[in-house]
Amino acid sequence: MVTLTIDGRTVEVPEGTTVLRAAEKAGIKIPTLCDHPHLQPFGGCRVCVVEVEGLRTLQPSCTLPVSQNMVVRTNTPKVLAARKFVLTLIFSDRNHFCPYCQVSGGDCELQNTALDMGMTHWDYQPAWKPYPVDASHPNLVIDHNRCILCRRCVRACGELVGNYTLGIEERGANSMLIADTGVPFGESTCISCGTCSQVCPTGAIIDRRSAYQGLEKKTESTRTVCVQCSVGCGVEVLTRDNRMVRILGDWDATVNGGVICKLGRFDPLDDTRERVKTPMVRKDGKLQPASWDEALEVIAKTLKAHQGKGIAALVSPRLPAEAMTAFKSLFKEGLHAEMVTSMNGSGMASRLAAEAGVHENTLDVLHCADCVVTVGLDLYSDHQVLGFFIKRRLNTSTALVVMDSRENRFAEYARIALKPAAGKEAFALQALAAAIREGHNGTSGKFGELASKAGLSEAEIAKVADLIRKSGTTVFVYGEGLDENGAKALLEVVQQAGDNTKLVSAKGAANSLFAGQLGLSNSFNPKGCPTVFVALGDDEPSNALIQQLEGTEFLAVAASHVSRLTAMADVVLPVEMWAEQEGTYINLEGRVQKAHAALRPTEWVRSSTEAIMALGKLLDVPVSTDWQKAFQNHPSPVTLIGEPA
Ligand code: SF4
Ligand code: SF4
Ligand code: SF4
Ligand code: FES
Repeated sequence: MVTLTIDGRTVEVPEGTTVLRAAEKAGIKIPTLCDHPHLQPFGGCRVCVVEVEGLRTLQPSCTLPVSQNMVVRTNTPKVLAARKFVLTLIFSDRNHFCPYCQVSGGDCELQNTALDMGMTHWDYQPAWKPYPVDASHPNLVIDHNRCILCRRCVRACGELVGNYTLGIEERGANSMLIADTGVPFGESTCISCGTCSQVCPTGAIIDRRSAYQGLEKKTESTRTVCVQCSVGCGVEVLTRDNRMVRILGDWDATVNGGVICKLGRFDPLDDTRERVKTPMVRKDGKLQPASWDEALEVIAKTLKAHQGKGIAALVSPRLPAEAMTAFKSLFKEGLHAEMVTSMNGSGMASRLAAEAGVHENTLDVLHCADCVVTVGLDLYSDHQVLGFFIKRRLNTSTALVVMDSRENRFAEYARIALKPAAGKEAFALQALAAAIREGHNGTSGKFGELASKAGLSEAEIAKVADLIRKSGTTVFVYGEGLDENGAKALLEVVQQAGDNTKLVSAKGAANSLFAGQLGLSNSFNPKGCPTVFVALGDDEPSNALIQQLEGTEFLAVAASHVSRLTAMADVVLPVEMWAEQEGTYINLEGRVQKAHAALRPTEWVRSSTEAIMALGKLLDVPVSTDWQKAFQNHPSPVTLIGEPA
């Protein structure tokens, strides 16, 4: 530990800590602009300068490491004059006509820093040079006039997302933020995660959809969980007058540490689907508004009449654990319905985790892997934040191997990309297991035959086997693109490769792991079931589901949005969408997280859990929402992590 004095206060911090962080620990605020607690220190803006006894010049506190008995002063006249001078240069360099900027009035760190220092104007004539505004991107706008060249966006895109789209061209006064080699932002390699806009201290990178909709101080903030995939990223939903304004990554969330993808940040704001506003019952061939009592009565009567004669029930794995538990309790244990399952895709990864005794790992292993092999999963478009964790390590010695029989854009980042023939992934993995076992001595062994059955060459498999053998820790990340045989072959590889091999599986939807645990992962087949209940929540029904349910004698759907499925239904119940619901989510690694309601639903809308419980009451069937008991009732190797907050 190192002891130093800052503004007369003694503070003790670990060696390597910067003066800025030591000051924070001592409760002393030093203004900053280019610094960000989640990025590496950069030392570009010089707003954070301090005086250090024994040093001739002022020092940037954000990059200066502490030393024993150091004496630091953060607010001497010399320091304050230097900071004011730095701010004056920044303000006069480009157009900072604050009243016209969307972040003015509280959200701009430049403006706030100046006001904190008592600045009301600056003394230098601005350069008046007009800079371009790049509005070519579908989600973001870069206004170069507001850019202070702090490089937070550049560093976030590289260090956190691993995308390295942004950079700075030229030097000094000619410095400009660019995307790739200077192409329009909308034509660049940007993947629209929006992390750059979240870290930008000024109004230089703004989010098209939410700009000018409300300063952060005028919005309410709710910390909740993204339900777009099974990573379960922590998000902060900003709302104003019960309207969603913006979604930010939650810097404090253990799972994602602040980064989120386009699906989590922008897609929910672009959801233009119409809401189901009241319960509806089909009368004279047409869906007509009805009361909850009437709608529930029709469903209960039909379920009672068809009990034992073919009831199928389907639930969305995007719903909270409480709703899924109530659903299973009503339809499986209460009504003994013939078909009770979830829309869990093939459900293979969740089933394997819940039943086959697969020893999976937490996401931490991705942060220290030497080699990552993805199998049957395109992290470019699916479970993207896992892709960020991997990409940000690729400029170290970490190697990426992508194995997929389908087109896979994540392969762009791979050191080795293997494309086995469709449906032959199991052979490719068996070949890999054999190659690791046999070693590669230049003579063709069993793995050569297996490789050719997979449509791959022996050399390709040998290269991957070599990489795994030489790597400290290898993490296999697999997804629903792998079939059951492939998954078994993957387990063989993991066993062959030994203790330093870890497994992480992407399980589809937000609560897919829990659906697997409840035994709700079988594929849906409503054939021979004249009565079908679908707890759809805010999910979008697939074409395949619509086709399967065409011609169903009686269809009841509990949904938040109007869809082709609700149009086919005999009864529709209006239920909450993700941002309105409270409940528990268990992510792909078994982490228990609590979703909190950011929006209030309208008076006719109820939660999916309430809708199912009301049905149970009418049918005189006891319905439980005790998800923890349901989880324990199904012994499995999945270990729950954390308690919901
Ligand atoms: S949106 Fe994401 S990928 Fe695109 S430039 Fe910003 S940080 Fe990089
Ligand atoms: S766009 Fe924003 S974050 Fe990026 S360099 Fe300019 S001011 Fe800094
Ligand atoms: S990775 Fe998944 S949970 Fe995270 S923000 Fe993207 S869609 Fe949401
Ligand atoms: S915050 Fe320290 S130099 Fe910018």
